[in-house]
Amino acid sequence: MAILVTGGAGYIGSHTCVELLEKEEELVVVDNFSNSKPEVLEKIKEITHKNFKFYEADLLDKEKIEKIFKENQINEVIHFAGLKAVGESVQKPIEYYHNNVTGTLILLEVMKKYKCKKIVFSSSATVYGAPKTVPIKEDFPLSTTNPYGSTKLMIEQILKDVYVADNEFSIILLRYFNPIGAHESGKLGEDPNGIPNNLMPYIARVAKGQYSELKVFGNDYNTIDGTGVRDYIHVVDLSLGHVKAIEKVRKDKGVEVYNLGTGKGVSVLELVKTFEKVNNVKVNYKIVGRRPGDIDICYADPTKAENELGWKATRTIEDMCRDTWKFINQ
Ligand code: NAD
Ligand code: UD1
Repeated sequence: MAILVTGGAGYIGSHTCVELLEKEEELVVVDNFSNSKPEVLEKIKEITHKNFKFYEADLLDKEKIEKIFKENQINEVIHFAGLKAVGESVQKPIEYYHNNVTGTLILLEVMKKYKCKKIVFSSSATVYGAPKTVPIKEDFPLSTTNPYGSTKLMIEQILKDVYVADNEFSIILLRYFNPIGAHESGKLGEDPNGIPNNLMPYIARVAKGQYSELKVFGNDYNTIDGTGVRDYIHVVDLSLGHVKAIEKVRKDKGVEVYNLGTGKGVSVLELVKTFEKVNNVKVNYKIVGRRPGDIDICYADPTKAENELGWKATRTIEDMCRDTWKFINQ
């Protein structure tokens, strides 16, 4: 009886595999390495001293996905696999809809055929669009502004409809806020190909001297220091949220949505200053214009996850900065 982890070689998937293996769970991992490397699988084994089965396969390849279900007793699925770059999704909408939505449909077809009816899905705070107020609760209105976000919202809807048609399903939609940080060992983390779009990987590269300065997108927002505020969450805390979600899908049928965030907003400059202080490095920056599509403030109300999953983020912004730096310098 195993958990299938799709996208398990990726940033969040790999950290979640570690936490599940530490809990003695049996894992089957599938990834096509479109945004990850095989070495990650070795790192997971090094950290945990545990083994798991791996299939190099694309979710779009139904035959291969069927083979996984035929050869293993899959009881639950944690579905991370997907393309995630917002800007790229605007340039390549067809690829994004096909990979994320069709990939999920194929996975669900095979799950249904093999009577596997428990799934935890990686959604995103992006489905809240530009929220009118913060903190954001799960029942806030949903909207999206780019193809990536639309794939998340569509998949959420598909999963809700799957439950309506078959009440035997247990489905959890996890809406992540801003995952950053790395494993305490420094062996796993996020190192995107090309120029990073997201703040933390960019800060790390400026600190390392790979780029001369960080461009801070706007200092005229209605926030503590004018720069954008987000709910940064340590990737290990986020991973532990999946361990709790698995416990819940094993117990209860239905569809539930949970925010996974800390509930605290941190500005761009606060994150830069903390990174400098904790790691004793300099992060040069320059204020530039706003990035189109950005919102001013976004942070979660995570009390539903605390009350119903018994999960709460405990790692600090200092931990996130320190662990990122350790990973970058490995
Ligand atoms: P990631 O790119 O590091 O991991 C995704 C993994 O899925 C990669 O290893 C990639 O190779 C694999 N993959 C993609 N398409 C596949 C396919 N068709 N078949 C098989 N494997 C495939 O991304 P991540 O940051 O770990 O994100 C994991 C999930 O969480 C994604 O669904 C993402 O959209 C979602 N999410 C991420 C963030 C974030 O900021 N990182 C925020 C909210 C939601
Ligand atoms: C991004 C995604 C969003 C996704 C979220 C979590 C975009 C447009 N949106 O949002 O869909 O759900 O990550 O993964 O990519 N910033 C700078 N300089 C930089 C980079 C960022 O000042 O070089 C600022 C941004 O303006 C923002 C903050 O840093 O205020 C965080 O940015 P980022 O890490 O890209 O995350 P989000 O914008 O929250």
